[in-house]
Amino acid sequence: MTDAANISVDGHNDDYAVLAGSVGPEVIDIRKLYAKTGRFTFDPGFTSTAACESKITYIDGDEGILLYRGYPIDELAENSTFMDVAHLLLNGELPNPAQSAKFNHDITRHTMIHEQLAQFYRGFRRDAHPMAIMCGVVGAMAAFYHDSTDIHDPHQRMVASHRLIAKMPTLAAMAYKYSVGQPFLYPDNSLSFAGNFLRMTFGVPAEPYVIDPVVEDAMEKLLILQADHEQNASTSTVRLAGSSGANPFACISAGIACLWGPAHGGANEAALNMLREIGTVDRIPEFIARAKNKDDPFRLMGFGHRVYKNYDPRAKVMAKVAKNVLDKLGISDPIFDVARELERIALSDPYFIEKKLYPNVDFYSGVVMSAIGFPTSMFTVLFAVSRTVGWIAQWTEMMEDPEQKIGRPRQLYTGPAKRDFVPLDKR
Ligand code: CMC
Repeated sequence: MTDAANISVDGHNDDYAVLAGSVGPEVIDIRKLYAKTGRFTFDPGFTSTAACESKITYIDGDEGILLYRGYPIDELAENSTFMDVAHLLLNGELPNPAQSAKFNHDITRHTMIHEQLAQFYRGFRRDAHPMAIMCGVVGAMAAFYHDSTDIHDPHQRMVASHRLIAKMPTLAAMAYKYSVGQPFLYPDNSLSFAGNFLRMTFGVPAEPYVIDPVVEDAMEKLLILQADHEQNASTSTVRLAGSSGANPFACISAGIACLWGPAHGGANEAALNMLREIGTVDRIPEFIARAKNKDDPFRLMGFGHRVYKNYDPRAKVMAKVAKNVLDKLGISDPIFDVARELERIALSDPYFIEKKLYPNVDFYSGVVMSAIGFPTSMFTVLFAVSRTVGWIAQWTEMMEDPEQKIGRPRQLYTGPAKRDFVPLDKR
């Protein structure tokens, strides 16, 4: 391990501590850099900046490794349930059977929403994007659950966490039901987290809803794979919003807004739309050529990642889930053939090899969600349901961190220097 990093500015040499994590690169502690040198660092997009210390999720982008509290993502997706993974992310350990039962109970007793909150939906247009609805109704939760907005009370923080995790599927399913003009369904706490969500989304009050175990299993895996991903844009947004002392409902609403963007959670919707636009395998070369053309803003959606410069380990699991769902449900969707062929061609193309552009989780998740029956507009909503667990775990960790400060980046100012005001008639 390196003891210190020496930085020389204007002939003055200063040592800065080098901090070691349990795994991963060492980190130079530059908190005193400005005080010592009068200089900031410049790092737009935070490509070289660790903004916090965290014990939750670890990614090795070069090796294609993703660990939740030390456990590889593929092992969790294969062997665990979403609720146990949520317990792991929130509390640090996989639960034993008694803890698992208690955690399930604690979450399910919060699945219903305040009845008045349902009226909010009727204020939206029927064709509103469900992510727009989610930004609104999740933020509005702060107006309904006053007894869990005191961020300095650990018990209230825990209750808010449970409420958010439990109510997200209810709110998400209602956003879908509203868009198709069907009645909202109340949650059924005898079902699994995934099963309950499927029933609230696709069930109708007129007849019993039979959960297909293949679909339920795919849903569990989708939820597990997207539950946390270190300090990504939406998680950093949640942390930044929370750093000012904002309540957790407001913070998660901010995270949902950030997730919506096509460079982040919105990529699954964009990836499926792209696969549909390509339509047939023979059109792939045309789209590959566009992706490589510097004058064309087109990008292959579902390819590339800020951190993974190797195969996204979530994409590997997701590809298997997609195949299983399509095979078992007997769906022959040409977009899956397009996806597989696109992946094969892109992975052997020098442009993609050189830039280390591999399929990411969104490349196959859209195929899975579409096969289950979700419209593309719901894809990012599902991502938000799952990622709420990660956001809450990261927000809680920040709130418990004695070193926590309000997030306040600095800038390289390149606007006009001080100048005199010019009256309107002189301009
Ligand atoms: N198709 C074609 N070229 C690409 C792509 C792509 N999907 N992604 C990156 N490149 C090129 C890019 O043009 C650039 O080339 P050059 O160096 O010649 O200018 C180079 O690769 C590096 O790209 P970058 O934009 O500097 O890389 P970044 O780390 O800032 O961006 C990314 C990461 C995910 C925003 C980007 O790869 C992208 O836009 N991918 C498509 C959207 C997508 O699938 N997003 C989902 C991310 S995974 C889900 C999640 O965690 O939220």
